[in-house]
Amino acid sequence: MGANSLVIDYTHMMADAIGAENGISAEDLKDSADRACAAASSVRAAAEGGHMGFCKLPFDRSLVREVGSIADRLAAGVDNFVVLGIGGSALGNSALHAALNHPYYNLLPRDRRGDRPRIFVLDNVDPEFVAGTMDLLDLERTAINVITKSGSTAETMAQCLLFLGAMEKRLGKKKMRERVIATTDPHQGALRSLALREGYPLLTVPEDVGGRFSVLSAVGLLSAAVSGVDIGELLEGARLMHEISLEPGISSNPALALALLYYLAYTRKGKAIAVMMPYCNALLGIADWFRQLWAESLGKRVDRAGRVVNVGQTPVKALGATDQHSQIQLYMEGPCDKIVTFVGVREYRREVPIPRAPASDDALDYLSGQTMNALIRAEQKATALALARNGRPNMSIEISRVTPRSVGMLLYMFEMHTALTAELLGIDAFDQPGVEQGKKLTYAMMGRSGYDEMRKEIELMERDRSTRYVIEL
Ligand code: PA5
Repeated sequence: MGANSLVIDYTHMMADAIGAENGISAEDLKDSADRACAAASSVRAAAEGGHMGFCKLPFDRSLVREVGSIADRLAAGVDNFVVLGIGGSALGNSALHAALNHPYYNLLPRDRRGDRPRIFVLDNVDPEFVAGTMDLLDLERTAINVITKSGSTAETMAQCLLFLGAMEKRLGKKKMRERVIATTDPHQGALRSLALREGYPLLTVPEDVGGRFSVLSAVGLLSAAVSGVDIGELLEGARLMHEISLEPGISSNPALALALLYYLAYTRKGKAIAVMMPYCNALLGIADWFRQLWAESLGKRVDRAGRVVNVGQTPVKALGATDQHSQIQLYMEGPCDKIVTFVGVREYRREVPIPRAPASDDALDYLSGQTMNALIRAEQKATALALARNGRPNMSIEISRVTPRSVGMLLYMFEMHTALTAELLGIDAFDQPGVEQGKKLTYAMMGRSGYDEMRKEIELMERDRSTRYVIEL
């Protein structure tokens, strides 16, 4: 296998291995081949017709240059780089950072971080979290990247106002201009207007790229480049995956194979929960990012024809081996309503030998002289096998090593996997009416103009709350 290979092993998804009740039969796969092929053709047509914005991102080489030059300037000038964003405007940043930088990056001395700033992703408005992060920052040595596609998300804009106010006091308006980067829609929104008025550098998110599909746009690339990630390689990985993701058959198209397996497990075997479980701490952020991608893209009330379908598998993230001691009991013996996808690496970037025990002991001797690498790999295999022996469907995705290229391949494969599954389900992966509803209710509660009717409605509902009790502590 090559230095950048990717292996998908779905033996334990199949009836032959885990039984017909929960496993997919070879006939199921054969019967669905035409359907899969049709899904692949529509996605191919949409991608080639330029109607699926995220597919164009890996090919935008000028973006790499633009982002790279901003990143180099910032990396040299500041000690802290803070991403202000939420949802698709933050999860990709965290995923890339976790995957491609040292696990304790921010705690390392600057020279061991490649002479780069610390990276923070502030993706919530919990006041203790926000204030706690600010406690760590010398604002004279800090740059912020405000990321919001819509340009008006309450959480992000509140953080933005907080930082702008505090930074202006410390730096003054002129100096601050070098430290604030706005990433937003190319044509509209409050952040865009603010950036143009104040003279902050602007990076744009293409109009047809939604938040959860934006990791390979300026949204995810700038913070990655600031921390020294090779973003050209990241996009190269995505480009390689693009080519194979347009293939019509599951034997040559891993995204299509995943889409079909998840679809059949959900619709024919009732597996309404999809667990992603990396055996690699660096890949946990990708499982977190995928959770949003899957949930917001596929959790839908209506299909393309407007019929009420209320579809969507619930995505769950877990970490191996840690969650073997927290979740596996449920996965093994609880309701058989899940598929588990393990994500592993063939070669970890570090090798940690396990020393011999001070004195011979049957309970420890088997570990002596081994490596942590061998242990975690054995644990992954053992868990997969144990689940299969219990008739629980699971599969494994394995990359050779975590590199910018393999991460680009994985991210893009999951994006295609999601788009193809939406095709199979006959729904639109790219809208999010459920998120929008919550955003509007927040605007109404916080007194934004234009939301008066909604506010009155909320007040009435609040007044009528009678089914609750209060305990004074
Ligand atoms: O995927 C999506 O569209 C959402 O999760 C958004 O990323 C999230 O709601 C934040 O939106 P915005 O980038 O407009 O601030």
